[in-house]
Amino acid sequence: MEIIKVKDRSFGIFIPENDIQAEIRRVASDINRDYEGKDPIFLCILNGAFMFASDLLKNVTIPCNVSFIKMASYQGTDTTGTVKEVIGLNETIEDRHVIIVEDIVDTGLTMRDIISLLSKKNPASISVCTMLFKPDKLEVDINLKYVAMNIPNGFIVGYGLDYDGFGRNTRDIYRIIK
Ligand code: IMP
Ligand code: MG
Repeated sequence: MEIIKVKDRSFGIFIPENDIQAEIRRVASDINRDYEGKDPIFLCILNGAFMFASDLLKNVTIPCNVSFIKMASYQGTDTTGTVKEVIGLNETIEDRHVIIVEDIVDTGLTMRDIISLLSKKNPASISVCTMLFKPDKLEVDINLKYVAMNIPNGFIVGYGLDYDGFGRNTRDIYRIIK
């Protein structure tokens, strides 16, 4: 489908399934090469990264663990306001090579928080594998080791990404038109 409606907005096809899958195979083969013998643990950030993680991991052929985490924020009792934490991480990542799997890095603020929270758990290394990256929106200094696709600004849905909770369940990626 070329145009889809998600709630009150229209989105046009932006990255077709075949292109997504080709970029995923490229990134997976880089990971297979770089992490040979390192038995990494993939930490997929829910909800948005679930589809990307699924297709990425089908192309990862080295021994690895796969786990799913979520960022939660709540109002803290001190003056700093919102407190963020990683939830759902049941296994230890101490001395492990961690690969964070994310759907999109926009301002980079979320990824910066995730990296800083995971760093406290003493992993051997942390790297980021993001499906999409909007370089023009980046506000913080973070190293994105694996990027499947760089994209210009503009709101995206599909293939795991949502608009107000809807639109995650498509094979292609769409961009807002109105
Ligand atoms: P950041 O902290 O600005 O890098 O982005 C944080 C989160 O916002 C991402 O993990 C996504 O869940 C969401 N997000 C950013 N851009 C988009 C978009 O274009 N479509 C859907 N969700 C987005
Ligand atoms: Mg996300």
